[in-house]
Amino acid sequence: MKKANVAIDGFAGSGKTTVAVELARRLELVYLDTGLMYRSVAFECLREGLDASQDEVLADLVRRFDLQVEVVAQPHPTCRMILNNQDVTDELHDPRINALVPRVASCSAVRRELVCRQQAFAQRGGVVMVGRDIASVVLPDAEVKIFLAADLKERARRRALELAAKGKHLSQEEVEAELSERDRIDSERADSPLVCVAEARQLDTTGLSVQEIVDEIAGMVRCGSV
Ligand code: C5P
Repeated sequence: MKKANVAIDGFAGSGKTTVAVELARRLELVYLDTGLMYRSVAFECLREGLDASQDEVLADLVRRFDLQVEVVAQPHPTCRMILNNQDVTDELHDPRINALVPRVASCSAVRRELVCRQQAFAQRGGVVMVGRDIASVVLPDAEVKIFLAADLKERARRRALELAAKGKHLSQEEVEAELSERDRIDSERADSPLVCVAEARQLDTTGLSVQEIVDEIAGMVRCGSV
């Protein structure tokens, strides 16, 4: 029997990745973080010194883009981005990429190319896919659709802690400004803006533990719907 696909969308720093990884581990699903794909485009743009303000430049980049997405299920669900035969995953959360990625993601040619790959990835079912347009565009037929939200201050606090654990120290205010600017651009863009579709279950993760959120979503997956 084909396993359910789970679409998880939400604001930057709302806990999508943490929740999706734990859900995938628990239910033995495959995890794909589509944000890493958009980040890979921004990474390549910076590496080549391209003018990202030009849609044609970005369209040309994705036409010749050599990105392999490697998913690992065990012992811990992860996905790695292999760009031009090099694993760049650990370099994709640089502040320069955070600043550029919403612009790159607003280009329709970039979205068309990546959405196509994401849809192919989910064809056999059993995927937890995380992003901004998963329920609305990539997998409108996903059996379970989740929209995660959380208070901006709480999201910035969590993100600042994650960064500090990696040796990067930013103030809560700096992180807050970065997250809210990215949310604004992602929500206002013309092509595939971040939206909560009517059928999605909206969960506010402020004050909830990862286990509580995953318990709730796992229950929906077992029932086969929201
Ligand atoms: O999820 P993450 O914060 O890594 O996503 C980085 C950026 O990639 C988002 O701010 C958004 O601009 C873009 N994105 C998107 N559609 C997706 C996933 C990410 O536009 N499905």
